[in-house]
Amino acid sequence: PRLGPLSGKHVVVTSGPTHEPIDPVRYIANRSSGAQGAAIAAALSALGARVSFVTGPATVAPPQGVEVVRVETAQQMRDAVEAALPADAAVMAAAVADWRVTNGSDRKMKKDGSGRPPALEMAENPDILAWISKLDHHRPKLVVGFAAETDDVVAHATDKRLRKGCDWIVANDVSPATGIMGGSENAVTLITEQGAEEWPRMAKDAVARQLAQRIAEALL
Ligand code: C5P
Repeated sequence: PRLGPLSGKHVVVTSGPTHEPIDPVRYIANRSSGAQGAAIAAALSALGARVSFVTGPATVAPPQGVEVVRVETAQQMRDAVEAALPADAAVMAAAVADWRVTNGSDRKMKKDGSGRPPALEMAENPDILAWISKLDHHRPKLVVGFAAETDDVVAHATDKRLRKGCDWIVANDVSPATGIMGGSENAVTLITEQGAEEWPRMAKDAVARQLAQRIAEALL
């Protein structure tokens, strides 16, 4: 591991989407490249942290030098995060599917000729951010969540911080006009107990480095 302000610290990072199977060939998922999560893991590692990188099936490759745990579903992601604890900090950047399919099939579902599509039944997935924020025993000192919003970004993200019980929320405006979703830049507002801090628009890598720097200061 590299020497730096995060030497000796362990950080768990979730990234990418989760896939919730319907049958062996179909799934429900969120749109997420995993780019911001991978950049954050790389930036934390560059500052000396040991990083457990729990990733769903992302399009962007995991960075070098981190401990990669590949998962598919939200339940697997929660279990992998739990197995990685204790940690000094947790950064939950994954786009976790809110629901999983409960009446899926072990075999490929077929059209039955009736013209009627199958009805999927779903159950709510565990909220990993809320769960880790409320742990009694192994709660990391600093828990950071994300909030992708399309309107009233600060109000919604401030509300989310309180509801989930995390320390910080990195909020961004993903309304189509910003071009942020799928792009290489991000414009974020950091929500802490002290209030809202608007960062200038910059590359996702630069957002990651600034955030890693702030995490290092918070863990001093
Ligand atoms: O509620 P919402 O999905 O907008 O919250 C986003 C934040 O919560 C992100 O940090 C995301 O990684 C986290 N999250 C989670 N588990 C879920 C849903 C969201 O960790 N099931």
